[in-house]
Amino acid sequence: MAQTIGVPKETAAGEKRVATVPEAVEKLIKLGFKVMVQSGAGDAANCSDDTYRAAGAEIAATAAQLWSGADIVFKVSVPTAEEVGLLREGGTLIGFIWPAQNPELMLQLAAKKATVLAIDSLPRVLSRAQKMDALTSQAGVAGYRAVIEAANAFGRFFNGQITAAGKVPPAKVFIAGAGVAGLAAIGTAASLGAIVRANDTRAEVADQVVSLGGEFVKVDYEEEGSGGGGYAKVMSEGFQQAQREMYAKQAREVDIIITTALIPGKPAPRLITAEMVKSMKPGSVIVDMAAERGGNCELTEPGQAVVKHGVTLIGYTDLNSRLAKQSSTLYATNLFRLTEELCKTKDGIINVNMDDDAIRGLTVIKDGEVTWPPPPIKLATPPRPAAAAVKPAEKKGHSHGGGGAPASAKATAITFFIGAVLFWFVGAYAPAAFLGHFTVFVLACFVGYMVVWNVTPALHTPLMSVTNAISSIIAIGALVQVAPPLTGAVERPETWILGLAVFSIALTSINMFGGFAVTRRMLDMFRK
Ligand code: NAI
Repeated sequence: MAQTIGVPKETAAGEKRVATVPEAVEKLIKLGFKVMVQSGAGDAANCSDDTYRAAGAEIAATAAQLWSGADIVFKVSVPTAEEVGLLREGGTLIGFIWPAQNPELMLQLAAKKATVLAIDSLPRVLSRAQKMDALTSQAGVAGYRAVIEAANAFGRFFNGQITAAGKVPPAKVFIAGAGVAGLAAIGTAASLGAIVRANDTRAEVADQVVSLGGEFVKVDYEEEGSGGGGYAKVMSEGFQQAQREMYAKQAREVDIIITTALIPGKPAPRLITAEMVKSMKPGSVIVDMAAERGGNCELTEPGQAVVKHGVTLIGYTDLNSRLAKQSSTLYATNLFRLTEELCKTKDGIINVNMDDDAIRGLTVIKDGEVTWPPPPIKLATPPRPAAAAVKPAEKKGHSHGGGGAPASAKATAITFFIGAVLFWFVGAYAPAAFLGHFTVFVLACFVGYMVVWNVTPALHTPLMSVTNAISSIIAIGALVQVAPPLTGAVERPETWILGLAVFSIALTSINMFGGFAVTRRMLDMFRK
């Protein structure tokens, strides 16, 4: 029998999101499920009972009816003890749980013999999990909204303008932390016309900042900031000092600061001091997205917008609820995608397959048994070790003073020696005609290797397509066959060779022009 998915009205204070929207209800029904929505659940996200009804959902009048009638409950905020009490014995719950922060809730849910899928525990390193990644979808919306809040509190335009009444300079925005929320903020502020600068401890995000129209501001201190899994780590005292100096300079120059810096399992790093706030121009704005985790700015008051030293400090913790329709729509899509993974048979019955890495990662309780934390995932290409955390200068000193070259240097030297002997052998004994071709071949290998090696990995796909287009050089061979001989007496090729040559010209032109067209389109994606 088809299972019923229940969507209750959220009870947390200020929570305006809803776990599914009418568009998603239709899709869930197509997967074979029945959908029940509590009356008024979508009101704050502009989804009325009628729109749910029209999509095929049943409306439950009360929370008790909803929870008792649902086999699977979709929720947004962490459930309260009361809500857990309403959950059916052996029922399934999908939503934000944060198991590390809520041990008691985990025990209550386990006592209910429930199966709990915590959307916050999804293994984000799996690329196929991206469609279910609610942390990303919600942070993206919040980053956008942070800029809108800043624009609302800021007394000037974002873009520069030249008007009859005078020249208006563009606003300068500094974004601290370029994760999902930070990148969304960079894109939004840049599209409003502001000059955007950003900083992050993970150097690898610099390209993304630039591709969204921002400028990456580096801290003048060499230290690798990746803590593994795409997240940051706590930086050394030396780095933090250099970073504070750079942030102090930015604070004096910019009009708006949006902070998003976060390190998993740690309080938010303190990046903006009271002194920096004081040094900002009057009317400046700081939006501290990390307010809930202690704040990146010393003066933030979580949940509030306050003015201190002439600067508006926004510490809202409900940015997603301030864009409830958008957040709910994206969240509903994430949960629908997850349901698709849970119900591959499309018969309205879920199968929590613990052999699937993504499902295993987010299943924190299975039939009353706590299965969190999950075992580490084995990736096909494991992330690079954080060995580069050593400063380059130290590395050099080590190899000089350490006595003897490291093993890899020895191996390289041996390979070069063997290569040189082989080349001498070929040069001494191979026929002259072969030598010519061989030299061209070796040079081609060298040039090809250097080209690929020196191109940013993000640009490898357009590179492949352009080399594909260039490889159409075969056209030259065909043209030689088709063209009339330059000097008198050479015979024309036979008709069938001519036919083949014309055919290959047609084919290679598709390859050539197609290759360049595809490359252009791909490169356009990297341009602003
Ligand atoms: P994330 O973990 O993907 O990104 C955080 C970024 O900060 C990372 O790129 C990291 O490298 C960087 N970072 C860490 N330490 C740093 C330092 N000392 N200096 C510079 N950069 C540093 O997190 P995500 O998903 O982008 O979320 C960002 C923040 O927004 C989080 O604090 C999250 O809790 C918050 N958030 C707030 C909402 C609200 O309503 N206020 C809603 C959604 C998210």
